[in-house]
Amino acid sequence: MIDGHKVIFSGVQATGNLTLGNYLGALRNWSLLQNEYECFFSVVDEHSITVRQDPAELRRRARNLLILYIAAGIDPKKSCIYFQSHVSAHAELAWILNCYTYMGEMNRMTQFKDKSAKHADNINVGLFAYPVLMAADILLYQADVVPVGIDQMQHLEICRDIAMRFNNIYGPVFTIPEPYIGKTGAKIMSLQDPTKKMSKSDENPNASIYLYDDRDTVIRKCRRAVTDSLATVSYSEEQPGVRNLIEIYAACTGKLPEEAVAEFEGKGYGDLKSAVGEAVADTLAPLQNEIARLSKEKDYIDGIIRDNAERAAYTANKTLRKVQHKIGFPDRIR
Ligand code: TRP
Repeated sequence: MIDGHKVIFSGVQATGNLTLGNYLGALRNWSLLQNEYECFFSVVDEHSITVRQDPAELRRRARNLLILYIAAGIDPKKSCIYFQSHVSAHAELAWILNCYTYMGEMNRMTQFKDKSAKHADNINVGLFAYPVLMAADILLYQADVVPVGIDQMQHLEICRDIAMRFNNIYGPVFTIPEPYIGKTGAKIMSLQDPTKKMSKSDENPNASIYLYDDRDTVIRKCRRAVTDSLATVSYSEEQPGVRNLIEIYAACTGKLPEEAVAEFEGKGYGDLKSAVGEAVADTLAPLQNEIARLSKEKDYIDGIIRDNAERAAYTANKTLRKVQHKIGFPDRIR
């Protein structure tokens, strides 16, 4: 733990196949934050069950995601990486915060509306209360900053509202978190509809590059990426498909988008797509190798899972005990 540093909390759900967007937009950049901040990165498996999951599959995905955190460069000695379900304080604080959250404000959540349209046969209370659990995640660790995508801003906003409401009643208990804005990483769009974010829940497998895609698949998907009929390479809003390819290329090669554009000046989209495919495959190969290597290190990974859950619980329980005391639950007798 790094004393005196600001705290970062973020989480990824262990559902769906993780995409290049998750890696370039989030995970890879988290590893750059861990020297400046005290970081908690959770595999939020409790969030995953708001949609029905196959148990064996959920367990497998959750472990793979934790391994991916490490493969992506997050150092489990510096940053705390753990399963949300291993720290019971998340569910406990979420229950308490439910009682400080209004139906009216939750009814405005656009992700709930989208998800309930998508899962019309299973609109459960957990899906509705999801943002409260997310607020508990963040507030338990007194996070100062939360790196999240734009799609999660509404949830972060409600987290702040709940925290401020609580602090207004009971005094300063929670740190009010800010969104992390900075070099947050590339925003990777769908290959088939570049006005939409690349998403692990996209129905069309050609729209997303998955982290476990092999070289041929990556190259094929890039070759099929939607562009336009302007036949010129630029990094402008008018050419969302080409812009996205440049963004991906730049993120994979470490070049600036302008440098990438210059490289493809006068060249056709075919050249661009091939180069992007190669660059992505070259980026994913070492990551995939590292995942394969770590997956065999069972004892090492188990040790990380155990130790980090303990570290997380220590911090989380400190906040939880304070909250329980403030609201009038009887103190524990030691
Ligand atoms: N809801 C987030 C998502 O789907 C995942 C998440 C859960 C999260 N708890 C969090 C992100 C806390 C940041 C902080 O992307």
